[in-house]
Amino acid sequence: MPRILDGNRVRDDIKSELKPRVEALAAQGRPPGLAVVLVGHHPASEIYVRNKIKTCHDLGIYSESITPPDSISTAELLAIVLALNARPEIDGILVQLPLPPQVDTKRILMAVTPAKDVDGFHPCNVGALVANLPAPRACTPAGIIELLKRGGIPIAGRRAVVVGRSDIVGKPAAMLLLHEHATVTICHSKTPDLPAVCREADILVAAIGRAAMITRDFIRQGATVIDVGTNYIQDRDLAARIFRNSPEKLASFDRRGSVLVGDVDPIDVVERAGAYTPVPGGVGPLTIAMLMVNTVASAERRSGVC
Ligand code: GUN
Repeated sequence: MPRILDGNRVRDDIKSELKPRVEALAAQGRPPGLAVVLVGHHPASEIYVRNKIKTCHDLGIYSESITPPDSISTAELLAIVLALNARPEIDGILVQLPLPPQVDTKRILMAVTPAKDVDGFHPCNVGALVANLPAPRACTPAGIIELLKRGGIPIAGRRAVVVGRSDIVGKPAAMLLLHEHATVTICHSKTPDLPAVCREADILVAAIGRAAMITRDFIRQGATVIDVGTNYIQDRDLAARIFRNSPEKLASFDRRGSVLVGDVDPIDVVERAGAYTPVPGGVGPLTIAMLMVNTVASAERRSGVC
């Protein structure tokens, strides 16, 4: 049986490490502060933001959510971001993506002052990532590195293949793996013979957004497989196929009307991988943990602790 890289355990460890840092900041004057901007009513985003706010609460981090309507304009959202930039008690600003189509997402992300950009999405922080300079790193990719390191998976000298080239996950994950001295390949929808390229991976990162796309023929025996996918399947036949008619999974589907599936086939990965991240309970918890790390680090920098 492969080893499970347990995201919930790593998240709890990171939260325990953060607690004294939050307490020290609070004792010194004020706790770290995070503002989350959630536009409209995107169901998955609402769940993510609720979990982010709850984790702030657990740690004693001040948080607030700003929830403008779906109809907001770029100018109105810019005004919200600029007001948050100016507030001294706010150390981190996160604008939950995706934004509605009428909003110019790049302009909004560029408006967040780089020192408060706890998502690591501002071009200044992306530049710092490429140059390997200290700055907030994108949370999901940073979480992947934590999972690998704390899971005892060697990275230096290994072959890493990242499937997906998004600005949020694929590109920064590839860069972080490169800084850890992996030999990195980034693949995407135009890559010829994707299974063959993936089979070269010692570390395979799937960040495509397509349920169970990575099947056994993509996975080298013994590889470490990191599944970033969070796909809610609403088609019962598809769920039955992916979970090979598992009675528990189908009962869960029948209760909820959907089931969560990663980008990696959940049965094939158990048969092929040496270690893997489950969905749920793998990468997901780390995204929030690393947001907390970035928020605390931002508060420390801004208060002169480091
Ligand atoms: N939407 C999905 N993932 C993320 C993330 O890491 N940050 C933000 N701001 N939005 C997201």
